[in-house]
Amino acid sequence: MIRTTALAVLLAASFPAFTAEQAKAKVDLAKAKEIAEGVCVACHAADGNSPTSANPIIAGQIPEYLYKQLSNFKAVDGKPAVRNNAIMGGMVAALSDEDMKSLSVYFSQQKMKPSVAKEEKLLAEGKTLWRKGDFDKGVPACAGCHGPAGAGLPVQYPRLAGQYAEYTASQLKTFRSHERANDSEKVMRQIAGKLSDQQINAVAEYAAGLR
Ligand code: HEC
Ligand code: HEC
Repeated sequence: MIRTTALAVLLAASFPAFTAEQAKAKVDLAKAKEIAEGVCVACHAADGNSPTSANPIIAGQIPEYLYKQLSNFKAVDGKPAVRNNAIMGGMVAALSDEDMKSLSVYFSQQKMKPSVAKEEKLLAEGKTLWRKGDFDKGVPACAGCHGPAGAGLPVQYPRLAGQYAEYTASQLKTFRSHERANDSEKVMRQIAGKLSDQQINAVAEYAAGLR
């Protein structure tokens, strides 16, 4: 399992907050499939291609990012979860570290069925923001971290291409309000904090159409 070893090494290197014990957790894809088909299926579909925009598409996402999010949803030692979400907090409560790691690899290996851009008139503005940022407001280009085509960049930067625009916009708004605060160095809180609603909707539409 070269992939498993590589993941453990990457996790240990990029997320020093994870303990050596966590980095060693094994990947059990058969068990992950069982959990996906028994639990996650209700909202994300068994292959991670969520049928409705209320739930993000997680198929094909970068595995280290999925693992970080699942870990962040989990309340540990009675402390509030780093990424506070009532629904996902309940979902991960019963999962072990090994389950979360296995599910992350499992969903990352599923083929994404991308969403589409619907609001044509927003695309030009979204494209400019994606590629160039907004110099006047000090907003960097999204492409700089999430990639020119939105594929993300392992291990820290998630894929945004093909994600539901509604979900992308909702995350930008919760970063802006600091309701979501699990981005290290406040990188997304600072960026989203400078964006107007119109800019958020435009860039989210543009990302939905990226391939
Ligand atoms: C009852 C519906 C529901 C179920 C069941 C569910 N999820 Fe979720 N999931 C959500 C919602 C809603 C969000 C978005 C939360 C937010 O807005 O921050 C989400 C977010 C996520 C994210 C974060 C994605 C990102 O791009 O940051 C991951 C990873 C995830 N879920 C994995 C899972 C896994 C694995 C399971 C099965 C163990 C599961 N979910 C079960 C509703 C659900
Ligand atoms: C300096 C690097 C950087 C830049 C530039 C950047 N991002 Fe991010 N972004 C991140 C990181 C890191 C995360 C992961 C945060 C975490 O760990 O939860 C992230 C996460 C996100 C998420 C959450 C994805 C999900 O699945 O929940 C969205 C949406 C997002 N960024 C949108 C954007 C947009 C739109 C822009 C441009 C306006 C942008 N980002 C620019 C680094 C960046």
